[in-house]
Amino acid sequence: MEKRSQWASSLGFLLATAGAAIGLGNLWKFPYLMGRNGGFTFLIIYLIFVVVLGIPVMITEMAVGRSTQKSAVAAYHKLGGKKAAVIGVLGVLAAFLILSYYSVIGGWIIKYIVSYATTLSAPADFAAYTAQTWEPILWHLVFMAMTIVICYVGTKGIEKVSKVMMPGLFILLLVLIVRSVTLPGAEKGLAFIFQPSGEGLTFSAINAALGQVFYSLSLAMGITLTYGSYLHKKENIPGNCAKIAGMDTMAAVMAGVAIFPAVFSFGLEPTQGPVLIFDTLPQVFANIPAGSAFAILFFVLMLFAAVTSSIALLECVSSFAMDNFHWSRRKATVILGVLIALLGIPSSLSFGVLSDLSILGYNFFDFICMITDNILLPLGGLLMCIFVGWVWGPKMLVEEIESEGVKFRLKKAWIWCIRLVTPVLIAVVMIGGFVSIYQVVIGAR
Ligand code: TRP
Repeated sequence: MEKRSQWASSLGFLLATAGAAIGLGNLWKFPYLMGRNGGFTFLIIYLIFVVVLGIPVMITEMAVGRSTQKSAVAAYHKLGGKKAAVIGVLGVLAAFLILSYYSVIGGWIIKYIVSYATTLSAPADFAAYTAQTWEPILWHLVFMAMTIVICYVGTKGIEKVSKVMMPGLFILLLVLIVRSVTLPGAEKGLAFIFQPSGEGLTFSAINAALGQVFYSLSLAMGITLTYGSYLHKKENIPGNCAKIAGMDTMAAVMAGVAIFPAVFSFGLEPTQGPVLIFDTLPQVFANIPAGSAFAILFFVLMLFAAVTSSIALLECVSSFAMDNFHWSRRKATVILGVLIALLGIPSSLSFGVLSDLSILGYNFFDFICMITDNILLPLGGLLMCIFVGWVWGPKMLVEEIESEGVKFRLKKAWIWCIRLVTPVLIAVVMIGGFVSIYQVVIGAR
């Protein structure tokens, strides 16, 4: 049998996993969700969920991968037959849907780079730009094409580039933070993030935080499982998971601290949704010496973070087709990539001609977000906990995690989490989510 490939180094593994995890979810989605859901309240719920649900699920997923030495669908199939394989299929479906709109945002970023490079400034009115029909679609297709090409020719160079780009991103975030918190009126933004208040404590905020934990940590999509299958037995899984979750959360919080003081300082609306960072950041750059040079650098780094995530997402989908339908890599990436690109078009149009189209009260873009973040990902995580916790058994995984002398100190807590705390929490939040969707539907009538 062919030997399964392994990570060349621990650092390579950490960077690749962090590279898939840190993406638009941190820089774009986290700030806008926080803005919509009361700032501090959202942050706290999010942090709690990362600890009691994100890290335990991540440990589980990674250990299942290392124990089976397979990718998602095949791994669950091996452990629990056809029924268990459904868990993997849910993840593939989620990756397919997520990438379709991820690429629309990726297109916005390319537009910014082009705009800064040619006019030294951002597009004047971003809402008006996204409301256009053709240009945003064009850049979305460019982003998807880049993703397809990289997956097609292979991702070898990425690991090397990541070693420079990821630290670069953190440094630039720091520069932005310094500028943002020294703007007049910045305190209001800091208070929005860090001052305890019950504002925005609603079910939909809790629900959004749950979805965001899965989304941002790239859980329940098979990617953590697949990466785990390349992991050496002597690596400490819980320790690595804590580090990855820590880096990912730090990136998200830093993005928040870079953005909200500026939002309040410039008198913008924190609740404006997906266009939030595209509206605020240019104003910060306009107040920095040589701002447009920093802006280009920042959006290039952001594009890079987006691409390292988008290729991993396409990889989730295409490796499924390669394993299960025996498609070649080329056939899988091109056919599925094109289908995903087509599905992204209505998402792009949701900010313009299709803005009045309502599916259960959501526009197309928000509808796809809702299906993935609030249904598919938590459901996948829930089923995984139930399967591992009650059917297959956490004992086997503890053995896997503790192979080659690794000590898993918190194993009791982890077993409690995946058997009880995590699934119950996910179930409660999901049921609450359905209730709030139902209310939206009623309200929309
Ligand atoms: N975590 C990524 C981000 O924050 C998005 C993402 C979700 C992802 N699931 C994934 C990326 C699976 C790669 C693979 O942007």
